[in-house]
Amino acid sequence: MPAPSKTNKAEAKARAEIEKVLISQRRLARRIRLLAHEIERDFSGRDLVVVAVLNGTVVFLADLLRRLTLPLRLDFMGVSSYRLSASASDLVFTKELGLDVTGRDVLLVDDILDTGATLARVLARLRALRPRQIKVCVLLDKKARRVEDIKADYVGFSIPNQFVVGYGLDYAERYRNLPYIGVLRPELIAPEP
Ligand code: IMP
Ligand code: MG
Repeated sequence: MPAPSKTNKAEAKARAEIEKVLISQRRLARRIRLLAHEIERDFSGRDLVVVAVLNGTVVFLADLLRRLTLPLRLDFMGVSSYRLSASASDLVFTKELGLDVTGRDVLLVDDILDTGATLARVLARLRALRPRQIKVCVLLDKKARRVEDIKADYVGFSIPNQFVVGYGLDYAERYRNLPYIGVLRPELIAPEP
């Protein structure tokens, strides 16, 4: 039997910190293909600017973009919370848009819609730039925790109120590189101060 490779060991170590795989690579790929079809149908013939929120969207975004064949431009908005935790309080904008979105059709992409505080702030910022329309696409929707009145136009998966990592999502900036969405072992999550 061949010795396990370094990658396998890293994978096994990460797995030990994951309680369960919530959404497999296969399910992610299948759902993203369907999301891309919906987006293509709705934005065909439009002057589309995809605006992605950094950093949690990178893996989802890369897979979604490769499925979109319509002409588009891509830009990023950087949003960060001061603390390295799950909370979206104390948001700061770390990167502003470079492209002009005035009069354009914007597809705003984010990783997860939780309380909605992040998207509420980002949407207010975008609306001030007077795009023709903004549609919101999120990979995950945790409806149970919603505080702001925000709905996404495209949702990959609705998930229960559990803390998830992987496929771009982090806990204290780790686990973003897992290829699936997993539930982190609750004992690894530090209590909110
Ligand atoms: P909201 O502002 O409460 O909607 O939270 C949105 C942000 O909180 C996301 O963009 C994530 O960065 C983070 N977040 C919320 N829930 C989770 C989770 O289960 N795993 C990882 N990050 C999360
Ligand atoms: Mg985060």
